[in-house]
Order: sequence, then structure tokens, then C-alpha cells
Amino acid sequence: MCLSDRERGVKPLNARKIIVGVTGSIAAYKSAELVRKLKQQGCEVTVVMTPAATEFITPLTLETLSGRPVATEFFPAARRPEVLHISLAQWADLLVVAPATANVIGKVAAGIADELLATVIMATEAPVLFAPAMNAAMYSNPILTANISRLRQYGYQFVEPEAGELACGGIGTGRLAPIETILEAIEGLLSCSPQGTEKLIQRGSSELSGKKVLVTAGRTEEDLDPVRFLTNRSSGKMGYALASEAEKRGAEVILVSGPSSLPSLPGVRLISVRSAEQMSREVKQWFPRCDVLLMAAAVSDFRPRNKTTSKIKKQEGLLLELEKTPDILLEIKSLKGDKGVGGFALETEDGLTNARRKLKSKGLDFIVLNAPTALGADANQVTVLGADGKTERLSQMSKLEVARGILDRVVGLLRTKCSDS
Ligand code: CTP
Repeated sequence: MCLSDRERGVKPLNARKIIVGVTGSIAAYKSAELVRKLKQQGCEVTVVMTPAATEFITPLTLETLSGRPVATEFFPAARRPEVLHISLAQWADLLVVAPATANVIGKVAAGIADELLATVIMATEAPVLFAPAMNAAMYSNPILTANISRLRQYGYQFVEPEAGELACGGIGTGRLAPIETILEAIEGLLSCSPQGTEKLIQRGSSELSGKKVLVTAGRTEEDLDPVRFLTNRSSGKMGYALASEAEKRGAEVILVSGPSSLPSLPGVRLISVRSAEQMSREVKQWFPRCDVLLMAAAVSDFRPRNKTTSKIKKQEGLLLELEKTPDILLEIKSLKGDKGVGGFALETEDGLTNARRKLKSKGLDFIVLNAPTALGADANQVTVLGADGKTERLSQMSKLEVARGILDRVVGLLRTKCSDS
């Protein structure tokens, strides 16, 4: 069994400077426990509270636990010589907002900085981690989903809330993640690079630098004779969006694509294939050299058992005999090691059950469940199922936005693997 630093008694957060942002949620009282645990880890902690947060928990409590003055006002009465929001922003190694309301997430996503905490978040170059907590209906509101997706795109990090009983009486997803989970996320963020997370500072532009990402896209074509083939309606848009987004985040990207009318992507190495057999050969060749595989291709499951060299004539009649193509994900399963592998599932019925089965049988880190209407379309509504048992249903959005959400997950996955090793 592999023990974490904390389990071994090592204090990975010792002497790190952390700002704990507290906003106006009933879960604000839990921030006291977070501050206490961070202090136990040897962190220097400064708490910044929004005015609404002070209605839920007193600054005095957090001041006593952190041992430092709590910042609540943009223009404190006892004026300090320095500009408060800038000095705080520069002081921190990491800023964690726990609990984070829909309000603070929305403000930062919209670039609004009208009180101290939002201003510090916008002014800091340190990694920022949001731990949302709110009513389940608010959490599933598509406006919030879009705001989170937008912030993720800029490199802001999130610890997902839990499902369970909520303060408002209902049951649903919206409970603040457990303090231990938030601490693990903080450790992960601060341990990926020795200096803290310099890469994150560039807000999304180089999160994947130094990583090789292999993406497959499009359909395959399985020849029957020199002029006919079996195929499907996949356009390649999802795979191309993934490749483009991975490239933007600094990865070296290899795109193995079946036939597609999409333009090639600048900075992405394109390997064109036609059949499942050819795609399998390329994936097996590139996979060992890559850190991540995103298998977005709609690989044909069957091919004609016999391919004729001359055109089959109408008079001859035709009885199609098919055989299975190689299952590429199954073929590379044993080579996975600590690489990140994501697949896609296209289902017409029992989507979640079938996707879960594929996730397990193909040994994936996550699988993206598509609706058949996604084939060829510009937008998509997907559900992402993780090997950790978590299921995230995204709202209908463009394939580029879906790609961003998936790449956020990949970044998180690599970070977890990096902190585990
Ligand atoms: N896949 C693959 N090799 C194949 C077929 C599919 O690697 N020969 C990959 C796809 O790229 C996708 C995942 O497996 O990431 C699931 O594909 P899907 O077509 O949904 O499922 P199948 O494995 O084909 O299973 P079924 O026919 O039962 O739906």
C-alpha cells in the first residue's frame, strides 16, 4: 500500500502560505476546520471573508484559529500602508475558496471584482482552488456550469461538491467536499512542481507542457471491394476539438484520424488512416510514447470478412459476411500503466449501464457517454463517468466546450497521478 505524505507523518504543506477565502454559504462554519487543519500542517493562513460570510461565522473565530488578522474590507478603517488586495495576492502560494458560492464563481467568471475576495482572486498569480457549496438546484444551473467551465478553461481548479443532505432540507449535489478532500487537492496543486505550480500561473496556457497526448478521431472505413466500404456518420469534430484544446494547453499532440473533411490543425501532428486495422497499428505504435490517450474515434466494430479486388457485380448478388475489427482500447489495456486513458461511448439505450461496463472492461480512467445525435453535430450533451465512481452530466454545449471540460479532467488526472507517484 502506498501511504500519502500526511499518513507517513510528513507535512507536505509546511510553511506554505495559503489564503482561505470564505463566502456566504451555510457551509462557512466548515472553513474553521479547514483553517485548523492547514495550521496543523504548518501553513501560514490568512483568511479573507466576504461580507455575507461574516453573517455565518465570525471573523474572530477564524482570526483565533489562523493566528492572523482576518481581511474583510476592501478599505479597512485602520489603513495599512500597502494596497491590501495586491499584497495579499502576492503573498499567497495558493488561494482556496471554501465554501465558494455561485455568486463568487459567477463574479470571477465575469471579471467582476467588487469586494476584497474577488479582487484578490483576480489579482493573484497563485493557483486558485474553488470548493463550491450550495443548494443542488443552484449547483446544476447551466449558468453556473458554464461559469465553472469558463474558469476551468483559464486554469482555475475545482473540488466538486458531494451529494447528500443539504442545509435547505433537500437531498442532492451541493455539499461542500470533505475537508480531507480539499486538503488533498491543495497538496496536489502545490506538489506538482517544486516551486508551487508555476505552470498553473499561466492560467491554462501550458498546463500540459511536456506531455504527449494521443487523440483518435473520426470514423473508419472498412473496404468491401475497391469502391464500397462500411462506415458510420462520425465527422471527427469531437476528436479534433480535443486535439486542438490539448495543443493550446501546451501538449505535444498526435492526432490519428479516420477520413474527415475537417482542416488539419496547426501544431498538431496528423496521422491519417482509413481502417480500424490501420488505426490500431498507429495507436499501438504511439501509445507507449504518450502520457494520455483520448479515444474519440468511432471505430467500426465489423469489417467484411473477405475484401474483393474487383468490384462486386450486381448480377453476382451479395451476402455480407462480417468479422470483428480489433478493439483498440482492449489491445492497449495491458500497456496502460500510469498513463491517462479516456474513451467515448455511443449508446442508443441503457447509456449509463453500458458506459460503466465499457469503462471497466476497457480499463479506462474515464468514459464520455454521447448521445447518437452527437454524430456529425457541432454541439453535444455528454455525461462523464470516472473510474473513481463519479458521474458528471454536462449541459448541452459546443464540442469545443466539451473538449475543454474533458481536458480539465485530464489535467486533474495527471496531477493526481503525479502526486501519487
Ligand atoms: N473502440 C475501440 N476499438 C473498437 C471499437 C471501439 O478502441 N474496435 C473504442 C472507441 O473509440 C470508444 C470506446 O471503444 O472510445 C467505446 O466505443 P463504442 O463504439 O461505444 O463501444 P464498443 O466497444 O464498440 O461496444 P458496443 O459495440 O457494445 O457498443
